[in-house]
Amino acid sequence: MRAALALLALYSSLACATPAPAYPGFKLLWSDSFSGAAGDTPDQKKWNIITDVQTNGEVQNYSKSNKNLQISGGDTVQLVPFKSPKGTWTSARIESKEAFTPPQGKLTMFEAAIRFGDTPAVNKQGIWPAFWLLGDAVHHGTPWPRCGELDIMETVNGLPAAYGTTHCGNGEQGGPCNEPIGRGAAVPLLDYGWHTWTLQIDRTNASGDWKDEVIRWLVDGNVFHQIRGSDIGDQGIWGTLVHSPMFIILNVAVGGNWPGAPNSLTADGYGSMMEVEYVAVYTSS
Ligand SMILES: *[C@@H]1O[C@H](CO)[C@@H](O)[C@H](O)[C@H]1NC(C)=O
Ligand SMILES: *[C@@H]1O[C@H](CO)[C@@H](O)[C@H](O)[C@H]1NC(C)=O
Repeated sequence: MRAALALLALYSSLACATPAPAYPGFKLLWSDSFSGAAGDTPDQKKWNIITDVQTNGEVQNYSKSNKNLQISGGDTVQLVPFKSPKGTWTSARIESKEAFTPPQGKLTMFEAAIRFGDTPAVNKQGIWPAFWLLGDAVHHGTPWPRCGELDIMETVNGLPAAYGTTHCGNGEQGGPCNEPIGRGAAVPLLDYGWHTWTLQIDRTNASGDWKDEVIRWLVDGNVFHQIRGSDIGDQGIWGTLVHSPMFIILNVAVGGNWPGAPNSLTADGYGSMMEVEYVAVYTSS
């Protein structure tokens, strides 16, 4: 028993990162499972570390400091908001270097396993973690929301709900994605522990018609929201969401239009972090 335990301990200290799960019928296109030593920076062959973005009225400045962004040493990455003695906030945001275009006839999945720090909601006013996709067209002059945005998981203020949302359209109020709110749905989030968040882009309908393609949002394998091409009703706009390259974003914002500003009770540090075990992209074989 003792020998077996010792062996197990040795194995886990040598083991490489928790791999993204294998799903029968799918091939893994891309993944990161955040191996490395505590305090390391995430793999910069895979990720851009963002410092120059501040949107939605947010108050944080994104930082490269390993105080805000680090490999944990336990095969995860941690995005950690901090408040300076002057009351200014820093946090972290990373974006995949690669962008992925869901192929015709395939089911493509974007997935991450995520948990949150255990500071209670009363001390999380303004904390806004997210796992989402943005159309690569935004890097080439196409403005938001025309570039397309698919929010796989967002949660604000430590509340017991998470949201999956689509942003799209030509910048008009309303439109097919109900801007500026977006078109989305909530799912209960009853604890801050590990959950798997998946976005499926399903282009497998035998009709081959874009109106029969489906975007689905899942938590722990259960669908909580879906949108069909026919719901959007505009082939060009649907194409910005489903037929175009999208890159992956992980971030923890502080403040902003949706959660509102942090307050004097808002706690910084690991208790308000987002921790991610793996991010993976799959497509049906
Ligand atoms: C945060 O960013 C703003 C706007 O870019 C800048 O003016 C400010 O000095 C930054 N604050 C800190 C604490 O770095
Ligand atoms: C394919 O699309 C048709 C037409 O909308 C629909 O009736 C059918 O249920 C879809 N098939 C699948 C497998 O979803």
